[in-house]
Amino acid sequence: MAENRQVLLARRPNGVPVMEDFAFATGPIPEPREGEVLLRHLLLSIDPAIRGWMADKPSYLPPIALGAPVRSGTLSQVVASRDPHVEVGSIVQALGAWEEYSAVPAQAVMGRVERLDGIPLEAHLSVLGGTGLTAYFGLLEVGRPREGETVLVSAAAGGVGSIVGQIAKIRGCRVVGIAGGEEKCRWIVDELGFDAAIDYKREDVKAALSAAAPKGVDVYFDSVGGEILEIALTRLRNRGRVVLCGAISQIHDDELPPGPRSYVHLLAKRGRMEGFVTLDYAARYDEARAELAAWIRAGKLVHRDELAHGLEHAPRHFLRLFDGSHRGKLMVKLAEPEESR
Ligand SMILES: NC(=O)c1ccc[n+]([C@@H]2O[C@H](COP(=O)([O-])OP(=O)(O)OC[C@H]3O[C@@H](n4cnc5c(N)ncnc54)[C@H](OP(=O)(O)O)[C@@H]3O)[C@@H](O)[C@H]2O)c1
Repeated sequence: MAENRQVLLARRPNGVPVMEDFAFATGPIPEPREGEVLLRHLLLSIDPAIRGWMADKPSYLPPIALGAPVRSGTLSQVVASRDPHVEVGSIVQALGAWEEYSAVPAQAVMGRVERLDGIPLEAHLSVLGGTGLTAYFGLLEVGRPREGETVLVSAAAGGVGSIVGQIAKIRGCRVVGIAGGEEKCRWIVDELGFDAAIDYKREDVKAALSAAAPKGVDVYFDSVGGEILEIALTRLRNRGRVVLCGAISQIHDDELPPGPRSYVHLLAKRGRMEGFVTLDYAARYDEARAELAAWIRAGKLVHRDELAHGLEHAPRHFLRLFDGSHRGKLMVKLAEPEESR
């Protein structure tokens, strides 16, 4: 009988996750029940959100249960369907798990993927998937940058940040990125077209930001929180907007530190700080994907995807989110789609 290899949450992390927080297991391929579909996962999306779900804390989704497969965004092929709206053989984006097969409710299927000429399959999980959609809606709907404005982006060489900066350039903004290390800073300026980069691991961020954005910042796209957010708030221009996308610098903390201490700058600058969850824009995903795909085809938007091959590499690839060793989007490839389906 065919088996289903899995990576389980063995225990809740204490600080930065380690390999011992995961366990490998093999079980039977699940049978979909009424209203469910059986997915064979092709690609796993490696996201900081998974770290949030590993903790026993309330969020927009419940925590992953101990002993359950690690929840994950996936690109998957439907191998059996007990829902009339989901077709066997179709390739879909879904909320699945770190396993070869998942039986999920049809609502966990977040859209069928129509293959586009010249665009690789993995792009549907990165720049045309949750990562690109987060950049698109967070920047354009929450940040609302106008031509000529200055946009500051943190985690700028990561999956979301690398796309945010390029969209801001497409919209005619001056773009400053913050990233860890010389290689990342060079990459975002030389290859992605950012106007300036700040290496937060080596430079005095406050001084470097004053030099890179002497008139201040109109939109700060924040993926890290903490000290960088505090500095960005002090550089906000009148009517500045702070997009709260993530707070990876605090993601391992059980107790949140007080702050941001500099929030009062929002008052003087008549500024706004607003969080968002990409899932809320699901009704508009197709529209965003069409625009992102057009930018890719026109050579205006480049994306970098770092793939590991094989389920057994999922935990170690996930840990790379926190050690600064990747650029662009992290994914794990499990299988190729079956053409005959
Ligand atoms: N709101 C939403 O709906 C939504 C959806 C998806 C993602 N997000 C958020 O978007 C952000 C980026 O996600 P992603 O998937 O694209 O990940 P990513 O940026 O590819 O990877 C995370 C990056 O964070 C940086 N980082 C790690 N620890 C840090 C620290 N202590 N201080 C400063 N930077 C640190 C690292 O870059 P350096 O090497 O440069 O430090 C790392 O490359 C995350 O905060 C995530 O939670 C939000």
